[in-house]
Formats: sequence, C-alpha cells, structure tokens
Amino acid sequence: MGSGIAEVAARAGHSVTVREMNSELLARGQGLVEKSLSTALRRGKLSAEARDAAWAKLTFTTELAGLAQCDLVIEAATENPTVKKELFAALDATCSPATILASNTSSIPIVELAAATKRPALVLGLHFFNPAPVMQLVEVIRTIVVADATIDAVTHFAEGLGKTAILAKDRAGFIVNVLLVPYLLDAVRLVEQGVASKEDIDLGMRLGCGHPMGPLQLLDFVGIDTTYYIAEIMFQEYKEAKFAPPPLLKHMTIAGLHGRKTGQGFYNYP
Ligand code: 3HC
Repeated sequence: MGSGIAEVAARAGHSVTVREMNSELLARGQGLVEKSLSTALRRGKLSAEARDAAWAKLTFTTELAGLAQCDLVIEAATENPTVKKELFAALDATCSPATILASNTSSIPIVELAAATKRPALVLGLHFFNPAPVMQLVEVIRTIVVADATIDAVTHFAEGLGKTAILAKDRAGFIVNVLLVPYLLDAVRLVEQGVASKEDIDLGMRLGCGHPMGPLQLLDFVGIDTTYYIAEIMFQEYKEAKFAPPPLLKHMTIAGLHGRKTGQGFYNYP
C-alpha cells in the first residue's frame, strides 16, 4: 500500500519522501513504484513526461528524520497496533509541530494512534484501497479529538489526488471493511465447510454479482495475513461472531500462505 500511495501523491505533483524500515524493503518499494508507473505508461494512463515528473518527485530513505519537514505523513506500516503506536510516538517526536499524521490502517481505531502523540488534533485516518493507483476511493476517518481544519485539509489533499473521499466515524473497520471483511470471512468458511470449490465460490461472486474478483482471489490480493490481523482487531472491538477469523485463515497466516505476495494463498502465483 505504501508504494501505491507514494506513487499517487507523486503523480499529483507532491514532493514525496518514502521511508522504509531497511534498504531491502526500500528497494522493493522503489521497484513497485517503477513497475506501476511503467504499467500506467503502457496503458496510456500517463505520458512519458508525466512518468518522469512523478519519478523526480520521489525521494527514498530509511531515516525517520527524513519526514521531519513533511506537511503530511501517511503511515502504512503492518496492521499491528503496537507497531503503529510506537511509530506514531516516534513521528510525533520527529516531525514539525504542524505536521499532520494520517494512518492508512484498515481497522485500528485512529484514537489509539492519536493518543500515542501530543498532537491528537492533527491525527486522522486516511484509508486507501488496493491497488491505490487504480481504486477511486479513500476513507477519511474523524476521531472525537481531531480538529475540523485537519479533516478539511486532508479531504482537500485526497481530492487533489483525484480520489473520491468519504467521511466515517472512528469505528474499527470504518465503512468499507465493516461490510467487506465479514463477506471475505464467510467465503473462507464456505471453503472450510467444503460447500463448493474455491474456483466456483469465486465464479459465483464474479458472474453472479459482477464483482471484479471473487472473494478468495481478493483475499490473496489483499493478503491472507493482513485480513487475519484486520479480522482479529475488528473482533476485539465488536465481539461479534461475524468478525471472528476462521481457523483456516489463521493456519494459512501461520504457514506463510499469504497470497500473491508470498506466491501462494488460495491459489498459486508462480
Ligand atoms: N496505474 C494506473 N492505472 C492502472 C495501473 C497503474 N499502475 N494498472 C492498471 N491500471 C488501470 C488499467 O489501465 C485499467 O484501466 P481501464 O479500465 O480504464 O482500462 C484498470 O486500471 C484495470 O486494470 P487491468 O485491466 O490491468 O486489470 P483488471 O481489469 O483485471 O482489474 C483490479 C484489476 C483493478 C485489481 C480489479 O481486479 C479490481 O478492481 N479488483 C478488486 C480490487 C479491490 O476490491 N480492492 C479493494 C481491496 S480492500 C482494501 O484495499 C482495503 C484494505 O483495508 C483491506
């Protein structure tokens, strides 16, 4: 998600600093941006000049200090509340007092991240959808302590990226994942129960409901592990059975069958 968000912002003309944990991950992210820009060029979505201009807007670093002077930081770390809270505390200590801190979390209540900082009025959710360069939507998440000016500034920023912004209260999963995650988990339950083959489950939703991907294809695309972590967080928040991750999802996460990114999930990606 981080590489996609960086690409979208650079394509909209913003100067973007991408920070990763280490040089290996940084090189991977850099490669993903390069590949996506090439695809966009090939598909006629942008010119060679626009591709070069976007690339020139990107700076890559492993230092958190590289973000100190940013107007807006968009965090896209792994879906782990402890990791994100530590990162928000570190960003709060590093960034200019005026920097807005946004999280691309799929499920963690934003107020938990705001409380890790001394600037809760400048902390909000800005949730992109995968693949960020293609998907039209962003969710803007309003905590009970954020300033209206922060919401307005970030909504304006999102619209400047060419996205459509929808506003949601700060509840785990916001709007889209509250609807999407139980559906994905039900698809895993159908597999567990042997109700149909995975191919037929996916065909059912593609051809029967016009979805671009079936639920098991989408799980592989989003990440089996990511969906498992999201479901855990939503189950903790709501204590409702519909958010409880099925055992198969947990076992696939433990076994490293994380979907496209590891080459195997419900399907194989040689
Ligand atoms: N930059 C710009 N445009 C690009 C691009 C790029 N790098 N790559 C592809 N595109 C464009 C293509 O040109 C095409 O545009 P067109 O419709 O105008 O011709 C369009 O994107 C579709 O691309 P493709 O033809 O290559 O691919 P598909 O038609 O197979 O679609 C897909 C791929 C967009 C991934 C589609 O399968 C899809 O929409 N899948 C569902 C994705 C989804 O549901 N995402 C949300 C997941 S949930 C989430 O992210 C939330 C998280 O919290 C869990």
